[in-house]
Amino acid sequence: MSRKARINLPYFDELLKDFQEGRTEVIKCFGNHVHWGYWEDPATADGSVEDFEQAAEKLAQKIYLAGQISSNMRVLDCGCGFGGTIASLNNRFTAMDLTGLNIDSRQLARARELVQSKNQNHIEFIEGDACELPFADNFFDAVLAVECIFHFPSRQRFFQEVWRVLKPGGTLAISDFVPRQIVIPIAKTAPKLVKKLGGSYYGRVDLNFSLGDYHKLSKNIGFKSLVEKDITSNTLPTYPVVERVQKKGEKELSFASWTSRWGILRYFIFSYQKP
Ligand SMILES: C[S@@+](CC[C@H](N)C(=O)[O-])C[C@H]1O[C@@H](n2cnc3c(N)ncnc32)[C@H](O)[C@@H]1O
Repeated sequence: MSRKARINLPYFDELLKDFQEGRTEVIKCFGNHVHWGYWEDPATADGSVEDFEQAAEKLAQKIYLAGQISSNMRVLDCGCGFGGTIASLNNRFTAMDLTGLNIDSRQLARARELVQSKNQNHIEFIEGDACELPFADNFFDAVLAVECIFHFPSRQRFFQEVWRVLKPGGTLAISDFVPRQIVIPIAKTAPKLVKKLGGSYYGRVDLNFSLGDYHKLSKNIGFKSLVEKDITSNTLPTYPVVERVQKKGEKELSFASWTSRWGILRYFIFSYQKP
């Protein structure tokens, strides 16, 4: 199967079309970061795209700070989207070696156009699969995967690859949608159900990995846990904005919104260290 056929992320086809058509609300929400927002105090969210834009930036910062990132580091951002997290690191830190990796060359082309290196940073965007990292062993100080691990072919394979490319003492920081253990049997059938109802906008999404699975996986690999934080309530103001701005994917979105509000599907930030 060709790489193109394996990508299958219809929401990115739509986003790129929307950008071309100059839909400013979509560009504001997803032209830079393609992930949910983070509100320290969700009651302050005002539902505007400008507010969402800031909250999306805040989420990227929350995740990379959980990975203890600072200046002078060599950092890999897996599933880098349009380079929003790399841009944020580029603005905030100096003398960084920043690499964004993505399976979709169209997103990389936009990232290269948008993100120009500054602060003595070096930036590269590379096409590749997060589960087959094209890098040497013990190479990076930190690896990030912001809201994308559920698309990867295997979380276990990704963790193994990250362990391999991290230097000793290096960190991994990610965010993920985590179902409660009790609903895993339902979560396993949910994608089929959603697809039957006509929803396939987000492509292949695996929402079956519980907190217990994360504990087992990180322990088996050898990672030390640094941060494990449930930020579901801080992300909830995302839904009304995305529901308004996005033309498609209503079924998946209302499924995620409903299950998140009821605490069935939780949004977590995790970070780990390779001892
Ligand atoms: C929800 S978007 C998040 C993008 C970016 N991390 C951000 O926060 O703005 C998911 C990203 O994962 C990428 N992706 C999906 N499968 C991948 C894989 N196997 N290897 C690398 N990237 C992948 C997609 O192309 C997309 O950019």
